[in-house]
Amino acid sequence: MVWFHPVLQVIATMFGIYAGYLGMERFLSQHLGKRTQFLWQRHVLMGRVAITLWLLGMVGGMTVARLKWQVNFVTGDHYRTAFIMFPFLIVGLITGIYMDRRKARRTILPLLHGACNLIALTLALYQIVTGWHVIRDFIL
Ligand code: HEM
Ligand code: HEM
Repeated sequence: MVWFHPVLQVIATMFGIYAGYLGMERFLSQHLGKRTQFLWQRHVLMGRVAITLWLLGMVGGMTVARLKWQVNFVTGDHYRTAFIMFPFLIVGLITGIYMDRRKARRTILPLLHGACNLIALTLALYQIVTGWHVIRDFIL
């Protein structure tokens, strides 16, 4: 049971990396004038999967910690980083859903969206390090 959350979160982060790659193609064409193709629907799907799994993972990790150790917030940097990620995930998801539903020429909102999600992705990658520390110190 303790392995379910780590495995799911690594998979979620892979979806996030792919969504970020697709998003960068959009960034290059919109702001730097490069001719690239943006796979819009695929970006939206990958981004949705990544953010949904990260959010479910937060709840899942806390549930497993409670069942296993009867406590939460004992994992130091791991739970703290999760809480820092939370607002970026919410803003990234809401701005993405909005821009997908109402297509228009924009500058600021896509930049805000991209920045929030790339920060969330960087923190998710850092969670692999802090998560490994939880495994090393509490499980192995
Ligand atoms: C890990 C998750 C995600 C990452 C890393 C990410 C990253 C990015 C980046 C870097 C851009 C380019 C921004 C720019 O041109 O300034 C972008 C654009 C966009 N993203 Fe995401 N995104 C993610 C999730 C989502 C989700 C969940 C949705 C929708 C439900 C979404 C919808 C969009 C749309 C519609 C655009 C094009 C906006 C426009 O140029 O008008 N993204 N994303
Ligand atoms: C975006 C990524 C992640 C988020 C948001 C996240 C979030 C959380 C949260 C909130 C907890 C509960 C901690 C507490 O109550 O003190 C937790 C537990 C835990 N996390 Fe993560 N985590 C992520 C990725 C990872 C990764 C990549 C690993 C492993 C490499 C990992 C390993 C663990 C372990 C071992 C626990 C203890 C409970 C369990 O095994 O399910 N996490 N996580």
